[in-house]
Amino acid sequence: MSEAAQNGRQDQGLSALHHEIRRFEPPSKFVDQANAGPGIYAEADADPIAWWEKQAESLEWAQRWSEVLEWKVPYAKWFVGGKLNVSVNCLDRHVAAGKGDRVAFHWVGEPEGDTRTITYAELKDMVCQAANALTDLGVNAGDRVAIYMPMIPEAMVAMLACARIGAPHMVTFGGFSSEALANRILDGDARVVITADGSYRRGTQTALKPNVDEALKQCPEVRTVVVVRRTGQDVEWEDGRDLWWHDVVDRQSTEHDPEAFDAEQPLYIMYTSGTTAKPKGILHTTGGYLTQCAVTHRLIFDVKPDTDVFWTAADIGWVTGHSYIVYGPLANGVTSMMYEGTPDAGGRDRWWKIIEDYKVTILYTAPTTIRTFMKWGEEHPAGHDLSSLRLLGSVGEPINPEAWMWYREHIGGDRCPVVDTWWQTETGAIMITPLPGITATKPGAAMRPFPGISADVVDDSGHSVGNDAGGFLVLDHPWPGMLRGIWGDPKRYEETYWSRYPGRYFAGDGAKRDEDGDLWLLGRVDDVMNISGHRISTTEVEHALVGFPRVAEAAVVGASDDTTGQAIVAFVTVKGEVSDEENEGGALVDALRAHVAKVIGPIAKPRQIILTPDLPKTRSGKIMRRLLKDVAEHRELGDVTTLLDSTVVNLIDEQLQAGGTGEAD
Ligand code: WT7
Repeated sequence: MSEAAQNGRQDQGLSALHHEIRRFEPPSKFVDQANAGPGIYAEADADPIAWWEKQAESLEWAQRWSEVLEWKVPYAKWFVGGKLNVSVNCLDRHVAAGKGDRVAFHWVGEPEGDTRTITYAELKDMVCQAANALTDLGVNAGDRVAIYMPMIPEAMVAMLACARIGAPHMVTFGGFSSEALANRILDGDARVVITADGSYRRGTQTALKPNVDEALKQCPEVRTVVVVRRTGQDVEWEDGRDLWWHDVVDRQSTEHDPEAFDAEQPLYIMYTSGTTAKPKGILHTTGGYLTQCAVTHRLIFDVKPDTDVFWTAADIGWVTGHSYIVYGPLANGVTSMMYEGTPDAGGRDRWWKIIEDYKVTILYTAPTTIRTFMKWGEEHPAGHDLSSLRLLGSVGEPINPEAWMWYREHIGGDRCPVVDTWWQTETGAIMITPLPGITATKPGAAMRPFPGISADVVDDSGHSVGNDAGGFLVLDHPWPGMLRGIWGDPKRYEETYWSRYPGRYFAGDGAKRDEDGDLWLLGRVDDVMNISGHRISTTEVEHALVGFPRVAEAAVVGASDDTTGQAIVAFVTVKGEVSDEENEGGALVDALRAHVAKVIGPIAKPRQIILTPDLPKTRSGKIMRRLLKDVAEHRELGDVTTLLDSTVVNLIDEQLQAGGTGEAD
């Protein structure tokens, strides 16, 4: 049997997903897509280069490019010879167009009542002052600046100030450890760090500056630390190195003459964890990146700059925050929300209160958060007027159909289209997504490549798998927002992304085309299990488990097994408490196994189901499947420094040792 055929056969189980498929057809009363028409796909397909060129024209360039794309596999240059300034595109041009009084963003601090509203004109002034300060501190174009901040306006100001002077920023999520920060500062060789004294999280003050102090013990090259006063807590101070933001920024002029930089000037480095211990510094540049951020934001979220209040509920420390809190929305001159805290700070309805108070129209968040809200109960959103919402987005992991439907019904009031958007730190901006008002949507499917983007699903040997079959996702043409490399490590760049299928970008994700040819993302391929020679997606088993009414969240791993190669181990959290009675003799676990067998087939029945009060997640909210795999295989645990709560692991491990789980017959 050919490999392709084999893939097709192994993929039979995936068709179980089809039982749940519903199609939601456009148009929608709430999304009119004044920004694009149904002809957009045909236009982009006919000439993708010309299409991207047209998109770039909506930015303000100081000098036009001579060539749209120069592609020497795997190195791309977009808008060759073009010059622009990213911060001018995000700020000055809107002010010059008379939009200075428009709100750039409403900021909501975690402590109730702690809010700020900042217009485009104000943001421009703040950014110019910060840019002048950085220049005074000796930061030149090309110098890397590390940013380690909470979700406060100054974080955005710092990023834009760096962009304005052509100094690539390296933002490290404020929840990362000092060790992680030090590794990034060293790898990127940053000499200046911008941070804050601390921040608020779940009602308490957390400290950031001590982490920087600790990190800098390993980073002798760092000469300047600029500290924003957020909480007013006591901080250690190293004279000559540490400076208060308000001392160095506030006295600066609000005038700043921006330089136009090459379209390939580095804009930022964002570190992302790979399969090895050392995170990869993903490098992004300016012209192509900003073009793709702006157009994806405009079309996928159908934005109307005059009326929308757009909210990406993510942290600025992740790529989602970079592209869809900062660069996309500002390039489009839209009003955004920025919220400092956790979803349950001040009550489990905090988000819904924010949406009601600010009349948020578009919400963009992650499936894991949606499932948390499901667990908390629909009474929380139901207690608020969410009628301002007209569009919902999801990103970060495969969204199971139940969560998608819950999002649509309980947050979107059954009227808002849901767009499931697939992309990665490496892609810079959204790549696979429906276009609301144009493309039909299906719960759980990212549907199709964005106009101008080309993706394929291939088998092991690189052949496109037809419809109704699964394989690996590849991107077979360069795109404007693509990473330009891994900082300081071209070899790793070439090997990680371009060696598996030479000339094509290997995303590391499994994907499936359904019988209509629409795309479903199935999770990382390292999470695809092989059970007795059958390929079964962890995601699919998770979908099945979450489809069981009592289940809140599930994580599935393939644990090595002497007989079957791999065996399925599921970690499951249920809604509310499990009584002894409910799981008497493992009754609940048996019912779950039977349910999975029913939905997918007996082959997908988990060998073991471990009931746990919580799942271990990274600070960005991703379930740590690799770690669960280690737990399931009783291996020594690897690096758990990014764990949200390491006690969860101990708990699971204990249960496993105690045998309080359902073992297969
Ligand atoms: C990985 C990239 C892109 C912003 C946040 C994550 C998974 C992302 C989806 C989606 C299924 C998704 C993939 C991808 N992923 N979005 N809509 N459906 N999977 O960025 O940390 O670089 O992670 O997240 O596995 O490879 P990231």
